[in-house]
Amino acid sequence: MTYAIQAQGLVKHFGEVKALNGVDLEVEQGTVVGLLGPNGSGKTTTVRILSTLLQADSGSGTIGGFDVATQPDQVREVIGLTGQYSAVDQYLTGRENLELFGRLFHLSKKDAVSRADELLARFDLTDAADRGIKGYSGGMRRRLDLAASLIGRPSVLFLDEPTTGLDPRSRQGMWEVIQGLVAEGTTVLLTTQYLEEADQLASRIVVLDHGSVIAQGTSDQLKSQVGGDRIELVVNASSDFDRAVAAVTPIASGAVTSTQVERRIVVPVSTGSTALVQAVRAMDESGIGIEDIALRRPTLDDVFLSLTGHAAEEETATSTKSRRSRAGRK
Ligand SMILES: Nc1ncnc2c1ncn2[C@@H]1O[C@H](COP(=O)(O)OP(=O)(O)O)[C@@H](O)[C@H]1O
Ligand SMILES: [Mg+2]
Repeated sequence: MTYAIQAQGLVKHFGEVKALNGVDLEVEQGTVVGLLGPNGSGKTTTVRILSTLLQADSGSGTIGGFDVATQPDQVREVIGLTGQYSAVDQYLTGRENLELFGRLFHLSKKDAVSRADELLARFDLTDAADRGIKGYSGGMRRRLDLAASLIGRPSVLFLDEPTTGLDPRSRQGMWEVIQGLVAEGTTVLLTTQYLEEADQLASRIVVLDHGSVIAQGTSDQLKSQVGGDRIELVVNASSDFDRAVAAVTPIASGAVTSTQVERRIVVPVSTGSTALVQAVRAMDESGIGIEDIALRRPTLDDVFLSLTGHAAEEETATSTKSRRSRAGRK
């Protein structure tokens, strides 16, 4: 079958840095694939190669059957790209930005105007259309960015971290917009550091770490790969923490993970509620007070942790902010 997006063995080095070490990727037409990975794992590099902005050292990619290296013009005809950093002009209004993009796409003046109107309405920006976008919120900017990437009615859309840095409400709004596009048949490759975002939007998830695909499948498949349930336990006193970890270790079916500051212990178990009872009893016998204890299904967080030994969302809000202001200054 022909995939809307296909990559084979993509390798890209930047000097000493191995950004991609042979990435394979397939996206069926009309579906969303989430490319999930922490900062520096190679998500943007993959997107830039597949959207013809960067040449791979080796490997190949096709979009709708067109080769990204040898048929870049045909590829650009069918794709839209919303980058990690805003592509719109700070000093123009929302409407002016969209009309400008329309002219870049060789629409007539009249068509550019009506396409801009249509997109402003669709992304709930009509009221703000004639204001300079300097005054737009982060969520409004991202919606305008996405609107700009839709000017040419792309059938394949790349969204590079579309909600990084947004507050929860704007993120939810962005998710709805993306779901709307997919309902219309657009194929989407979405990169994200947020497990929940991949879970919500993507029918398949490809997990990237240090430039290599380390796992892929549906969210459920990935979760069942780590197997079993998790007991999540918070002890009352940090002085009890080490003893608590030791007390639950015999119950665990895999590696126990814990964060001392939160006094939280996560115990993978294979016997569900029986294990929960055992954990409560173990705490009781050791005289350790419990603030909270629950049995839960594995999350994508657990998947990431068990695959890589580190968490996916390592970046803090502050470092995201400093990256963005750096990008804004260039
Ligand atoms: N133009 C570049 N020059 C040098 N190194 C780069 C360049 N672009 C990306 N890298 C490096 O390649 C790796 C992957 O980067 P990137 O694809 O941006 O990751 P992600 O988007 O997942 O955060 C990182 O180590 C990054 O520092
Ligand atoms: Mg990136």
